[in-house]
Amino acid sequence: MDHSNQISPEQAILGVLSGKSGDDPFPIFKKTRAMGSVIRLPFPMGESEKQAWIVTHLDEAMKVLKDQEHFCVDPKSIDKNSNIKKSLTGNTDSSSLFLSSSLNAIDEPDHKRLRTLVSKAFTPRYMESLRPRVQKIANELLDQVQDRGEMDLVKDYANPLPINVISDMMGVPKSDHAKIHKWSEGIANGLGLGTVDPKTAQSLQDFGDYIKQLVVHKRKQPSDDLISQLILIEEAGDRLDEKELISMLQLLIFAGHETTSTLISTGTLILLDHPEQLEKLKSDHSLIPSAVEELLRFNGPSTTAGPRYALKDLELGGQQIKKGDMILPLLKSANRDEQHFSDSEDLDVTRKIKRHLAFGQGVHMCLGAPLARVEGDIAFTTLLKRMPNLQLNIPRENVNWHFKLAAQGLSTLPVSF
Ligand code: HEM
Repeated sequence: MDHSNQISPEQAILGVLSGKSGDDPFPIFKKTRAMGSVIRLPFPMGESEKQAWIVTHLDEAMKVLKDQEHFCVDPKSIDKNSNIKKSLTGNTDSSSLFLSSSLNAIDEPDHKRLRTLVSKAFTPRYMESLRPRVQKIANELLDQVQDRGEMDLVKDYANPLPINVISDMMGVPKSDHAKIHKWSEGIANGLGLGTVDPKTAQSLQDFGDYIKQLVVHKRKQPSDDLISQLILIEEAGDRLDEKELISMLQLLIFAGHETTSTLISTGTLILLDHPEQLEKLKSDHSLIPSAVEELLRFNGPSTTAGPRYALKDLELGGQQIKKGDMILPLLKSANRDEQHFSDSEDLDVTRKIKRHLAFGQGVHMCLGAPLARVEGDIAFTTLLKRMPNLQLNIPRENVNWHFKLAAQGLSTLPVSF
């Protein structure tokens, strides 16, 4: 439901960011884009009383993501005594500690050091080489439901596919994939709520313990999996230490699960909502890679990038930003920017996209983007090949959305074929 007529656009944006708005945030984004590229949010940030801003246009969002002279991801980089909290909800608990030591939450030079090391194992060429394994996983999942003529696309396909792929890459035994899935989902469900409930804390603990044991095992018996490679990588005499290795593995499993699952499930629903576009894909599968980019642009999994903080006073989009202010690049809005995309509110699977922001930009740009693209390509191609007459099995208005990690996703998607 569009609440944009009853409350101010700034209030409506807060609703979107906290999951309290309706299913379709795009009319709100459109209104805020018309107000300007940088919009002041009507609340101070955490205990610091600093101002928060959202960035709605693509050019300014790119600037925030790429300009390290003026923006950082870790508020501690502003100055040593900063008491600025990291998230909208101001978490200081164990969940934010897990996140705060992660690659996405640290600034240079530490970020560059870790990213250089992990990039040696996580190369685009390696991701491409995984195609046969991703294809096998997609086939196995659809084999299990093909004869039934119906499935819950979230539970049976979109959720297990990325978790099985990353678990397989890491050399997690198949019998443990379900455990990894349960923990990763438990953490995603519990994060961002302000406090960590005992269930989420338990998932964090169990997940960490399991990864630690796996690392011990891989040190004794290395093979061709990602964990063994991450243990061995070395750059100019530098290596990941034990804590960095565990934190990196947790992030890789966690960062790629919910996002890629949302790409597959929401992407399928968007295609079912646009039958003429779906027909184009069915008649020409070679369009699928460009359709994946368009789905990422049209309604990608991440509403915003992680918060950035101003390192100094500056002007952005006509607004005076003060040192320490929090800035949220609104990726879903930037990707509908009328100045960059013609008919930006329309889905066009043949669109030639120069760039979009669904994977972010700059030094923190998604490390797993090449893998997500391979997974998206294979997931949609396999689905359309094997289930060409796919249709929604419930009335459209009964489709059930959830809100996790500041983003919308589907809880279930019953389909028949
Ligand atoms: C469709 C799927 C995906 C989407 C939409 C997505 C989106 C993003 C975005 C927007 C960022 C940047 C956040 C920021 O700048 O604050 C990011 C960073 C990251 N993503 Fe992804 N992601 C996806 C899949 C994956 C996968 C499959 C993996 C790994 C297996 C992954 C691992 C990471 C990591 C490690 C970072 C942090 C990079 C850094 O800070 O240097 N992502 N992702």
